[in-house]
Amino acid sequence: MDKLNSTFKIGNLTEVNRMGFGTMRATTGNGIWGYPTDKASAIKVIRTAIENGVNFIDTADSYGPYTSELVVAEAIEPYKNEVVVATKGGAVKYKPGAIMANGHPYYLRTAIEGSLKRLDREKIEVYFLHRVDPNIPIEESVGALAKFQQEGKIKHIGISNVTIEQFEKAQKVAKIDVVQNAFSFQDRRHEELVKKLSEQNIAFMAHTPIAVNNWDDEILEQARKQNISVNQLSLSWLLNFSNNVIPIAGTSSEKHLLENLESININL
Ligand SMILES: NC(=O)c1ccc[n+]([C@@H]2O[C@H](COP(=O)([O-])OP(=O)(O)OC[C@H]3O[C@@H](n4cnc5c(N)ncnc54)[C@H](OP(=O)(O)O)[C@@H]3O)[C@@H](O)[C@H]2O)c1
Repeated sequence: MDKLNSTFKIGNLTEVNRMGFGTMRATTGNGIWGYPTDKASAIKVIRTAIENGVNFIDTADSYGPYTSELVVAEAIEPYKNEVVVATKGGAVKYKPGAIMANGHPYYLRTAIEGSLKRLDREKIEVYFLHRVDPNIPIEESVGALAKFQQEGKIKHIGISNVTIEQFEKAQKVAKIDVVQNAFSFQDRRHEELVKKLSEQNIAFMAHTPIAVNNWDDEILEQARKQNISVNQLSLSWLLNFSNNVIPIAGTSSEKHLLENLESININL
């Protein structure tokens, strides 16, 4: 798996392999609510990812809520010091399939304290503001994360689901080391932001990198020509887009995981 040797240094400090793993699906598939139906299998898939070179795992307190973080904590226990964990706060899962932003500094404090306990860590390597609360200026929410960082609870600050304007506002109050937005072969809305981050050597985690129901003709034809799956083409396209892009595909299946990791070896 050659490109797993391709790494990115988050904040010029924390080196991760460029294929991460997302654990939103380490819950029931139905509404991202509760424990996965087969928890042992979810743990096994995460461990297989790690054994195959993945060392950057993404979760969030809202996945479950809380259950994804607990599954991640259990899965990585034997590899605790080898794996970089990213989690998120600032989005409240209040019923299956329903989520709302809460970017109040007081709420974010309870959120990070909960994540530290569930992940059994003294410091969270990457902590994201999950989404921007329309009722709270982003500077206030990110300012709270900067405070937690000063207190030693966060190594790197991240923001998720942001526009270029929101990113620039956040940068005024904290050093932003990672941004996480949707980005894929078929969804290139954030292309300009990714390029801007690349110029500043800031990591970009591509969420929802393959989950597409209707592949367009361009990707179907290209995948057919190369004799690879559309998922592999999509992931490979991301890895080749620029070296700050870290796709975080998620899966509940070992077979799909290994197929996705193979995309590291594909040259487009
Ligand atoms: N920041 C945010 O707001 C945000 C939002 C969404 C997601 N995320 C993060 O991004 C990660 C990935 O997002 P995602 O789960 O929505 O999308 P994704 O990784 O693009 O796609 C996952 C879906 O694709 C299927 N899949 C994966 N590999 C496959 C393969 N090789 N063949 C066929 N089907 C395959 C999975 O089903 P199977 O289980 O059957 O493989 C699952 O239904 C999440 O886990 C989470 O960490 C963040």
